[in-house]
Amino acid sequence: MRAALLLLIVSAACGSSNTEAGSTGSGYGSGYGSMASTPTPTPGLAPADPRVARGAVSYAKYCALCHAKDGTGYAADHAPSLVNDRFLRSADDAFIARSISLGRPNTPMAGYSKDLGGPLSDAEVDELVAWMRDGRARPETLPPAHPGNAAAGATLYAQTCQKCHGDPATRLEAVQLGHPTFLALASDAYLQYGIVHGRPGTPMEAFGDKLTPTQIDDLVAHLRSWATPYTPPAHQDPPVTPPQGPIVINPKGKDPSFKLREDRFVASADVAAALKQKRKMVIIDSRPPSDWLAVRIPGSISVPHYEPAGLASVPNDGTWVLAYCACPHHASGIIVDELRKRGYQHTAVIDEGILFWHQQGFPVEGTAAAAPIKGEPIPGGYPDPHAGHVH
Ligand code: HEC
Ligand code: HEC
Repeated sequence: MRAALLLLIVSAACGSSNTEAGSTGSGYGSGYGSMASTPTPTPGLAPADPRVARGAVSYAKYCALCHAKDGTGYAADHAPSLVNDRFLRSADDAFIARSISLGRPNTPMAGYSKDLGGPLSDAEVDELVAWMRDGRARPETLPPAHPGNAAAGATLYAQTCQKCHGDPATRLEAVQLGHPTFLALASDAYLQYGIVHGRPGTPMEAFGDKLTPTQIDDLVAHLRSWATPYTPPAHQDPPVTPPQGPIVINPKGKDPSFKLREDRFVASADVAAALKQKRKMVIIDSRPPSDWLAVRIPGSISVPHYEPAGLASVPNDGTWVLAYCACPHHASGIIVDELRKRGYQHTAVIDEGILFWHQQGFPVEGTAAAAPIKGEPIPGGYPDPHAGHVH
């Protein structure tokens, strides 16, 4: 109780400077660093939370790639801001922690929990939440949502929201509001708050003064109508991990002859054809292992972008080595840069990424491989940014 009160006081004190957090993004621990030489605790203020510094280390390693160094988002894959004041005021710690642990399958957001084969324990996920909260807003009690007319909401959604948020089958540039995991975690009050206040400093405007309260109730009812029964994955002890090999696909096969775009990218269709012709190559999945376990290119090995030490087992003898991610280029680009630095002769990024690959009906395996139907948009499918390059 006392601790909660203290936190309230701290957040009230910080509140005024944080109302535009989306556009400032001052970074973590800003105050503490400069105070380090004179560690006199300010009376009434809670001491620095030791989880914050550990969270900062994990954040830089796993998350900054997409959500930007300071958490303001949009470094890659249209990853949303994690430090926007309106987000932090409406999302409670459980929403944030579960979003990190479970991810949003079939989007670039992996599940980071060890239960799914990801790298993070529950304590490490909590450290990330502490880092996001450091010096920023605490969750508030949200105004309750009211029943609405889902059919009216559907029309309004199609006119006003769909172009950014897509639908349950299609992920466009903004957070996929029809995603089953998102809807399992987000309350109606959370949805309503997001629509009313928007996310200042991001493309999400505040609709509170543009739409009537009834229209907003209808939108919430429409989003809720997309929700499906959701069972969280079971706790795994010991955690599941991908096997270490075999490393080379078709070790006795001929070398493929890939033509690279910009000396760097190989088209998915060319890789699929080479696999069919039983050509020799190594394919690296550079996402967290949880994503590898769910859906992967058959024969690919898991070397996450944040653990390049795993490349030690990849032969450096002229064999083609390809890397992919969901992104479609960021995590795989890190791996290919590392391979080139180590002198590998034939390396490339698989151009369009695994979500596109899956959507095309090219072969995949893994626990979630059966999910999408060939020729249909896959749930959460990422739009292909290089449509012009595919034959
Ligand atoms: C490869 C890019 C990528 C990486 C790396 C990544 N994310 Fe995400 N993250 C996303 C995207 C994209 C979304 C939105 C997904 C969607 O469409 O719903 C997202 C969503 C989220 C959300 C939910 C936000 C909301 O408004 O609902 C949280 C929280 C989050 N990420 C935290 C993290 C943390 C913490 C890490 C590191 C452990 C991380 N992410 C790593 C791309 C990424
Ligand atoms: C111009 C594109 C755009 C339009 C149009 C738009 N949004 Fe958004 N919306 C976004 C972006 C981008 C975010 C994430 C912002 C961030 O980084 O925090 C967002 C966030 C949200 C969130 C919070 C999701 C979360 O977990 O963080 C909700 C709810 C939402 N929008 C609902 C709507 C509704 C309903 C409409 C239509 C009335 C709408 N949006 C129109 C771009 C848009």
